[in-house]
Amino acid sequence: MKIEFLREVGSTNDYIRQYLGGSEDVVVCAERQTAGRGTKGRSFLSERGGVYLSALTFYRMLPASETFRIMTHAAVAVSRTVCAFGAEPEIKWPNDVFVNGRKICGILIENVLSDGFVKASVVGIGLNVENDLKGLETAITLEEACGSKVAVSDVREKLIENLQKNDTFGDYLCFVKFLGHTVNITEGEETYSARAVRILPDGRLEVDREGARRILSAAEIGMRLS
Ligand code: BTN
Repeated sequence: MKIEFLREVGSTNDYIRQYLGGSEDVVVCAERQTAGRGTKGRSFLSERGGVYLSALTFYRMLPASETFRIMTHAAVAVSRTVCAFGAEPEIKWPNDVFVNGRKICGILIENVLSDGFVKASVVGIGLNVENDLKGLETAITLEEACGSKVAVSDVREKLIENLQKNDTFGDYLCFVKFLGHTVNITEGEETYSARAVRILPDGRLEVDREGARRILSAAEIGMRLS
């Protein structure tokens, strides 16, 4: 696996696309991004002091129906990294990582699909370590979460190491804390409260809304922990 370090780039997820024509797995890390991208077309604040990386992985026979495994793997690698520095992470479905109710990491996954299989995936991870959050109260840095100084390079190294490790769906569920609790769901124009029941292995969330069960897909709805 090749690892590339950049001082500055627009977005590591965009930059790494140049390697899609090859066959070797690659990780691209940047100290800062000027056009960091988030999910659902949002931008992602990427000031110096955070870990910003994209990991390109090639697959041989991964069915497109199993893409959720790529998400769970990334979220578990981040959670294990956060734990290694003494903080207590919680995965917010499908794959944000929170500490003390504030977001410490965002993950943006872009897959290359062909003939019902995942040929390659780009897993983009932005982990707040000691970066300026510009007053964003819903976010937290790893330094604040663990109450001590943390070197960005140590976090980056640990995260890359954890991305190489294996994990299971059960490992993912161990970091999910909201099941059984009430969450707020936004579906189109409508927002409602429901009890989160379970996460299916394909990544969909089952909720109980006043006694009626519904199975929801993260691409179609928004969920907030309440
Ligand atoms: C989100 O929370 O909406 C996902 C944020 C993903 C940010 C990472 S930082 C590295 C990679 N490059 C990007 O432009 N985005 C991802």
